[in-house]
Amino acid sequence: MKKQTLAATIILLATVAFALIPLFRRNVDFPIPVHHALHAAMMAGGALAGIFFAGSLMRERRGGAAWLIVAMFAPVFAMLLMWPSEYSYFELHPYGHAAEHLGLTFLAFVAGYGGQRYANGIGWAFGIGIVAMALLAIGGYGVGPAITTPVAAAPSQSNATAAPNVTHGSALFTQNCAVCHGVGGAGGEGPPLKNERSRKTLAAAEAWIENPAPPMPKLYPATLSAQDVADVAGYVETLR
Ligand code: HEC
Repeated sequence: MKKQTLAATIILLATVAFALIPLFRRNVDFPIPVHHALHAAMMAGGALAGIFFAGSLMRERRGGAAWLIVAMFAPVFAMLLMWPSEYSYFELHPYGHAAEHLGLTFLAFVAGYGGQRYANGIGWAFGIGIVAMALLAIGGYGVGPAITTPVAAAPSQSNATAAPNVTHGSALFTQNCAVCHGVGGAGGEGPPLKNERSRKTLAAAEAWIENPAPPMPKLYPATLSAQDVADVAGYVETLR
């Protein structure tokens, strides 16, 4: 094997391994600019491998003008692969993400290889060009897409409650709780709730209200929503 072919093979294998990282490190959250810098590195590897492979063939065969066209189209496809609207998809689908990386590596390879097959030195021009494109993307082409992960965001929206609204909680308390716990939690049929804070944390109060022991009625979720529970528990925590 020629030295150049060996070098090209090693660079290509290393770059492919690098491109597959999303499969193994799924939950790494890189800022977008860093991500594009990593793309640029993969594409540099791909282009270099392409240039060396083409170089090792140089003495045997020369390419035709068709290689120039191939090399010119590679950056266009690479740009489509890096389009910002795809970020959120790739963020959630490691296989798609790894495939995107392989695609970028391949396109850079094609740019370097095609250019070099067309004429000695042109591969470098295309290789540098396609890497420069990824580097430009670090600035985001002026677009700063927010990475929103719809799948991850959905459950947190349905489960999480906003910070307790104590005013609303006070109204709920008068309607649903004061009959037993007295106005202002002074006590009655139910125990006083003054200084409840020292006995139960907000979370414990919420848990109790959602699943109380009889005779206290279970008002959640039929009468009180999760947010109502948070509000009324927040109010109870203010009693002293
Ligand atoms: C039917 C009467 C009744 C109603 C209505 C009622 N409770 Fe209770 N509550 C009780 C009784 C009785 C206990 C004591 C139960 C026990 O300790 O086993 C209790 C216990 C509690 C406790 C725990 C006190 C502690 O630290 O041990 C909290 C907090 C509480 N209630 C809040 C509320 C809130 C908020 C509401 C309205 C959403 C409410 N309760 C409605 C009767 C009632």
